Amino acid sequence: MSVLKADHISIQFGGLRAVNDFSIELNQRDLFAIIGPNGAGKTTVFNMLTGLYQPTEGTIYVNGKPMNGCAPHEFADAGLARTFQNIRLFGNATVLDNVKMAHTYKTKYNFFNMLTRTGNYHSEEKRITEESMHLLEVFELQDKKDFFARNLPYGEQRKLEIVRALATEPQVILLDEPAAGMNPNEIDNVISLIRRIRDDLGKAVLIIEHHMKMVMEIAEYIKVLDFGETISEGKPEYVQQDPKVIESYLGRRANDFRSK
Ligand SMILES: Nc1ncnc2c1ncn2[C@@H]1O[C@H](COP(=O)(O)OP(=O)(O)OP(=O)(O)O)[C@@H](O)[C@H]1O
Ligand SMILES: [Mg+2]
Repeated sequence: MSVLKADHISIQFGGLRAVNDFSIELNQRDLFAIIGPNGAGKTTVFNMLTGLYQPTEGTIYVNGKPMNGCAPHEFADAGLARTFQNIRLFGNATVLDNVKMAHTYKTKYNFFNMLTRTGNYHSEEKRITEESMHLLEVFELQDKKDFFARNLPYGEQRKLEIVRALATEPQVILLDEPAAGMNPNEIDNVISLIRRIRDDLGKAVLIIEHHMKMVMEIAEYIKVLDFGETISEGKPEYVQQDPKVIESYLGRRANDFRSK
């Protein structure tokens, strides 16, 4: 059974059909991508897949369960986590506390209570701290654990967002432009991290990304959106040479594509 399925979903904002008849199906350990020009509807798809927007047509299934009418926290409970195109961290909390707050989402103890109580709370807090530190180590952020999140360089803030999403123990993780604003070294690093999220942690991963070298290197299957329509889909080798994709997107980005 698929972990995430969107079956012919569409959404209308007033007169604008931002996404029309979009379908996708992810199984465990799939690593797929959505690409397309600015304003194509990619983030809107993520917003529907995570319950932020309700599709006006079609159905989303998480682990086989139809999610019509469900709120974002119910999508999270069902096993989805995401990062946002614009970073959303608690800037005035430490790196470690940012991760612990995401972790406690899945436990019965509230993080703030935990800090003020004794007994069970202590053992629970110890466990969450250890698990959070483990994730920070995977992402090579352990030395920054006591930094305020806002003081991290941009690339590390993006990585911390991914760690926070993973801390909720999702089965599927959706990353909206994980490489945006990163330098080439950081991009290589994030490519290997995304692979580890799939290979070592066993998650299904769906990314939106404009960085074509990254997409073509890691995605196994790509959906291409333009003006809300799926204009092409398939393996990277296919999509890259599809004239429709070249005309509406890759051709316009030809310089980037060759140079990156
Ligand atoms: N809440 C909303 N209300 C009205 N229009 C919206 C809303 N959200 C998105 N749109 C519109 O839907 C279209 C698709 O936007 P979306 O953010 O999904 O594009 P995108 O593919 O993620 O682009 P980018 O690559 O620039 O991030 C745009 O025309 C946008 O203005
Ligand atoms: Mg977007």
